[in-house]
Amino acid sequence: MQITGNTIFIPGATSGIGLAFAVALHERGNTVIVGGRRTELLDRIVAEHPGVHAVAVDTADPASIEQAAARVIAEHPDLNVLIPMAGIMRAEDWTRPSGFLDTAEQTVTTNVLGPIRLIGAFIEHLLTRPDATIVTVSSGLAFTPLRVTPTYNATKAAIHMLSESIRLQLADTSVRVLELEPPSVATDLMPGHQDDPNAQPLDEFIAEVMALIEADPDAREIQVERVKFLRYAEVRGEYDQVVATLNARDPH
Ligand SMILES: NC(=O)c1ccc[n+]([C@@H]2O[C@H](COP(=O)([O-])OP(=O)(O)OC[C@H]3O[C@@H](n4cnc5c(N)ncnc54)[C@H](OP(=O)(O)O)[C@@H]3O)[C@@H](O)[C@H]2O)c1
Repeated sequence: MQITGNTIFIPGATSGIGLAFAVALHERGNTVIVGGRRTELLDRIVAEHPGVHAVAVDTADPASIEQAAARVIAEHPDLNVLIPMAGIMRAEDWTRPSGFLDTAEQTVTTNVLGPIRLIGAFIEHLLTRPDATIVTVSSGLAFTPLRVTPTYNATKAAIHMLSESIRLQLADTSVRVLELEPPSVATDLMPGHQDDPNAQPLDEFIAEVMALIEADPDAREIQVERVKFLRYAEVRGEYDQVVATLNARDPH
């Protein structure tokens, strides 16, 4: 993906990584449309960042995705980048059904079905563009598990394998697949996460991401330095140690 000159829809950009990425991409000369459920935040983002557009969407709702996609494509026919960023992360207790069944369904719906349905809503349009990119959002936890969030980890592993797989199917088309693999980044994804001393500061993370995209527009994965501890634990032969270290840090 080129760092500039794109028209980009980011469903899941009312806060955190999505918002910071949206602002950075806008500043680098991209047309950016932010999406999410919290319309008061969408209004504020548009007011604070002239030139940024917003479209409300609930990515857990297939009808909302269809409506939002139709609007984005009608208003921004140059759209060539989709970043299905929306995600949720919930602590679970898998020793009793009431500790995980509801959260598991919500998490799969948002983190896996959401991106799948979004890609479904945009793929035919993206294939008409001469240079298009789907930026999927997985996690370091796709590669090394955090004990308290089993379904979350599993959904991010699914996004990794989905990215690997659809990249093969789209290889001979104009659509590239770029997987963003954040490490722990200080956002409000989970209670207390914003103040976690082990999380990478958001501005530092986004600056590193932008530098990586600029340095290698043909990259398949965006890996900041901090995610490599989790991303390549198994490759290094240190998987059990890294699982132990990651989960010893975890206060839950
Ligand atoms: N922070 C980390 O440590 C970390 C690490 C690895 C991966 N990630 C991934 O990065 C992505 C962004 O997370 P974040 O850390 O920036 O957390 P965040 O601040 O909580 O942002 C989550 C975003 O997803 C949106 N969202 C959630 N459910 C949605 C729905 N049903 N429909 C539309 N939008 C929805 C939220 O918007 P509304 O509430 O307005 O709908 C919000 O904009 C997620 O996919 C997360 O899994 C984060």
